[in-house]
Amino acid sequence: MFNANYQQRREALRRKMTSGLILFPGNNEAPCNYPDNAYKFRQDSCFLYFFGINQPGMTGVIDIDSGDEYLFGDDVTMDDIIWMGPQPTVREMADSIRVGKSAPACEVKKIVSEALRQGRTVHYLPPYRHDTMLYLEDLLGIRAAELKAHVSMELTRAVIDLRSVKEPCEIEEIERACDIGYEMHTTAMRLCKPGVKEQYIAGIIDGIAASYGSMNSFATILSQNGETLHNHNHGNILEAGKLMLTDAGAETVNNYCSDFTRTVPVGGRFTNRQKDIYNIVVACHDHAIDFARPGQTWKEVHINVCKVLAQGLKDLGLMKGNVDEAVAAGAHALFMPHGLGHMMGMDVHDMEGLGQVYVGYDDETRPSSQFGLASLRMGRRLQEGFVITDEPGCYFIPALIDKWRSEHLFTDFLNYDVIETYKDFGGIRLEDDVLITATGSRFLGQKRIPLTVEEVEHIMNE
Ligand code: GLY
Ligand code: MN
Repeated sequence: MFNANYQQRREALRRKMTSGLILFPGNNEAPCNYPDNAYKFRQDSCFLYFFGINQPGMTGVIDIDSGDEYLFGDDVTMDDIIWMGPQPTVREMADSIRVGKSAPACEVKKIVSEALRQGRTVHYLPPYRHDTMLYLEDLLGIRAAELKAHVSMELTRAVIDLRSVKEPCEIEEIERACDIGYEMHTTAMRLCKPGVKEQYIAGIIDGIAASYGSMNSFATILSQNGETLHNHNHGNILEAGKLMLTDAGAETVNNYCSDFTRTVPVGGRFTNRQKDIYNIVVACHDHAIDFARPGQTWKEVHINVCKVLAQGLKDLGLMKGNVDEAVAAGAHALFMPHGLGHMMGMDVHDMEGLGQVYVGYDDETRPSSQFGLASLRMGRRLQEGFVITDEPGCYFIPALIDKWRSEHLFTDFLNYDVIETYKDFGGIRLEDDVLITATGSRFLGQKRIPLTVEEVEHIMNE
């Protein structure tokens, strides 16, 4: 049972804002190939956070100065009832979330126009759907192409502040998404055998999410070519000796996400070479959880994890020189060209639509432009209640190795002759979802998906 207090959230938002109107357009149906054949409806996460109504065609408005709250939308017609069954009225929906005023959708324009006429500020968040842009253009008289320049930073920052710290009901819901993710990943492990098509396994695990009335939290990544970070091509037949990387999660019916990655040996037994690299990534993964706590920045956690990676690769002869200097220079990014993790919540990359730099960084912790570190979506100081992914990886990307080698990059830190022999290795990523607690951090989900070499081989050979 998911039970958020939307009224309390709207009040908290209002207290963070100075004056004006706040406009929250909900999402509309998104047609796939003709208007009546739409993609599965997905409500806007901010609208959901403050208004909780999972229906297309709604708009929420908060008057910061008077405290009035409005829900706009059209009641269904008899024709709609015949095709879709009975639906709650807009007034009933407004009552369910304690919004005082409700009106037909066309009335939004009146209250927004009146506010603009009085010279009041109308705050809105960055739109990301084109129909929403056209709607805002019509309401505000700002051309769609110019809407971004007029987005309310005051609102953006207030919403990020609130949504970053997860409430107990949100954590419970994320854990429900994690439990579905557990079933998806353990199923993928059991099916991972030579001769099986990647697409078959991807389809089965997507079906698990669907069987809970959920959907995937993002398009499943499943490939024996895991060195391609976001490989959505599921066209290969699994081959013995390869590693299958699965990065997938579920989004619950209440729209909270999970995001997990596991990498397993096709056929169920790691080779020694695979074990060597795999165990380094396990050490990186566990190091993050040991190190993450309120007051620490996630950027520091990322950098420390990169040092564990570089030390492991040095021990294997792939890297050389001083580990701290190698990481400071960015040499390890040949093997891990991405960040350690991102915020997660209603969006798998939580609030990315509001501007990743505002979600993951602040005045104190600034983004880097260094290759690898520049891809760290979340860097700032951790607070109790943050939910973040911990997803270190180690990849052998032939094109990147060739490029760096030809440019003689980081020759003090990289043993290219040894690295060359790993070009057929593929890639490993391990990912869990982490809650920052008062004193440290913990993994989310009732059971941790098998992680160690022993746990993975055990479940694959049961
Ligand atoms: N799991 C996909 C991503 O984090 O980008
Ligand atoms: Mn992720």
